[in-house]
Amino acid sequence: MTHTVTLVPGDGIGPEVSDAVVRIIETAGVSVKWERFDAGMAALEAQGTPLPQALLDSIRRNKVALKGPITTPIGEGFASVNVGLRKALDLYASLRPISKLPHVRSRFDNVDLVIVRENTEDLYAGLEHEVVPGVVESLKIITERASTRIARFAFEYARKMGRRRITAVHKANIMKMSDGLFIKSARIVAAEFPTIAYDEQIVDALCMKLVMKPEQFDMLLLTNLYGDIVSDLAAGLVGGLGVVGAANLGADTGVFEAVHGSAPDIAGQNVANPTALLRSALLMLHHLGESEAATRIESALIRVLAMPGRATRDLGGTATTTEFAGFICSELGTAVGQ
Ligand code: NAI
Repeated sequence: MTHTVTLVPGDGIGPEVSDAVVRIIETAGVSVKWERFDAGMAALEAQGTPLPQALLDSIRRNKVALKGPITTPIGEGFASVNVGLRKALDLYASLRPISKLPHVRSRFDNVDLVIVRENTEDLYAGLEHEVVPGVVESLKIITERASTRIARFAFEYARKMGRRRITAVHKANIMKMSDGLFIKSARIVAAEFPTIAYDEQIVDALCMKLVMKPEQFDMLLLTNLYGDIVSDLAAGLVGGLGVVGAANLGADTGVFEAVHGSAPDIAGQNVANPTALLRSALLMLHHLGESEAATRIESALIRVLAMPGRATRDLGGTATTTEFAGFICSELGTAVGQ
């Protein structure tokens, strides 16, 4: 079967890591028709908008997209395309499995954590205004509907994937109403899932516990901003942003993307590590029912990481992006021939 997938290579290192991942998927024998679109600055210059309607239409039609990083101007310029996509397609759940890849040096060996982050509201609503000169206000929006929906997503995921415990993360001791509503909603949903344990942690204490003993957590459920911060912290526990995949999911649509940004400091040098986007693509392949290919690619990736020097330089190797992808493709070819 041929899958039609929207591909947004992104900018900075995006096109380099996307090319690598497309090549690996095709070498694994998965038949994909890619519909390619620009977004961000390139789209703004060519089409007058950073988030073209044709791109949104393509994802709505195909219901699945693979996306590279897109640069967001800081403090001015167009709004984040990433946030815009999540809002336009109602991709309300961010899913980030955090587990150590064999042969990747990291602080901890036994982390197996899944982070579920609410993706549509909180301080990310972007509702900011100047109250009087020199004073700005940013609104933290938390609704019962979105809190309940993300809690239900987390518990249903836990049940499907056999996870044992969900920890809701908050600061309801200070933000009694907003974070209070988030955990109140989570508790109501938790009661519907008696076989999955539920507890709560205040966000600052959670960060301390995560960096000291991350293996004590199974799944985390967070609002948008805490989820953003804690999920990068968690990536750091297992080797950094270059090795962690992620998915943004809605009711029937999935956008799979690496967690890192466009890395302007190394863009165009053919040294970026495509592993994070590849791991996101593996989540996509499972979503598309191509689990057998996903498993083959993952074991080819692990075999390459086991060979000294064959990783990209961020992981201590000397391979370029294209060489690294080539090694994985060769491993896939060898496996086919066996
Ligand atoms: P970044 O993740 O792009 O880079 C942070 C550091 O990690 C840099 O030193 C970079 O070289 C390194 N790095 C990141 N990915 C790597 C990879 N695959 N291989 C090897 N090294 C890698 O974060 P930064 O610099 O804060 O953001 C740059 C731009 O990316 C900003 O405009 C930001 O808004 C955007 N961004 C976009 C995201 C997305 O599209 N989902 C997510 C995060 C940031």
